[in-house]
Amino acid sequence: MLHILGAGSLGLLWAARLQQAGIDCRLIVRNESQLRQWNSNGNRLVFDDGTAKHTLSLATETPDTPAPIENLIVATKAHAALAAVESLRPRLQPGAALFLLQNGLGSQQAIADAFADCRIYCVSVTDGAWRPSEHELIWAGRGHNTVGPLRPGTAPPDWLNDLPSSISTTWQHDILPVLWRKLAVNCAINPFTLIYDCRNGEVPERAGDWLGQCITELQQVLATQGVDANLAEQVHAVILATANNSSSTRQDLHARRRTELSYFLGYACRTAQSAGLSTPALDRLLLSAQDALRRHQLPAD
Ligand code: PAF
Repeated sequence: MLHILGAGSLGLLWAARLQQAGIDCRLIVRNESQLRQWNSNGNRLVFDDGTAKHTLSLATETPDTPAPIENLIVATKAHAALAAVESLRPRLQPGAALFLLQNGLGSQQAIADAFADCRIYCVSVTDGAWRPSEHELIWAGRGHNTVGPLRPGTAPPDWLNDLPSSISTTWQHDILPVLWRKLAVNCAINPFTLIYDCRNGEVPERAGDWLGQCITELQQVLATQGVDANLAEQVHAVILATANNSSSTRQDLHARRRTELSYFLGYACRTAQSAGLSTPALDRLLLSAQDALRRHQLPAD
């Protein structure tokens, strides 16, 4: 049995695909009031997988449900992850597998520190999904999951091989470089889409030389972590492939949700600082993004 924590786009995407494959899973929603909403709708989710619309019935529960948890897919935003897992502490079995889908870095380590007896896996997700309404999900971009252990040497959970083909997954025993590369791409794209309130494809023109300066500094930050990458090539490939998309940060802005800025750009700037690296373009990017959030009266995290 797999439990999924978080009924946002990513949590629903996992729940929908597991449910379609006949894998027993439970969606843990935030509280009684969210559970009542799901129940009053017959627990129905309309799932548009890009080719057809499917109406699914999901099994839902709250954190207070007493059943034990052996395998938990954590699909909350980075800033909510630790508190959300904490709310399940009494239910987590010794050695439980925690699958962390959060963007950026920092939240995963905080959970690993707080849950020493759990097996911690980080997942780098490239799927794109969004919800036109609470109980509707559109799988806009079919992506891939790279999974690996946060503590080196932890073996994969045995159910990893049983995931359906719709959840395309590879095991990577050295996951941190993968998370760092994704973080760096997010740093080079998302803050600009917030500052200029623009789509990904408009970033090079709006940011001008500033983009290249940020990429150079991010490449140096990656080097302090022993991570190799051709970041310029990766960033421009992602911009091209997602030109028409709004980044997750711009979506947060428009939905007036707290962004994950401090888990990618903040994390990169803090890492540079502790490595004694000067990153003026990135520091300016962080300040400008925080200013933009303040202007929109959102927490400048
Ligand atoms: O955060 C996002 O939206 C994506 O990861 C990406 C592709 C980097 C920017 O749109």
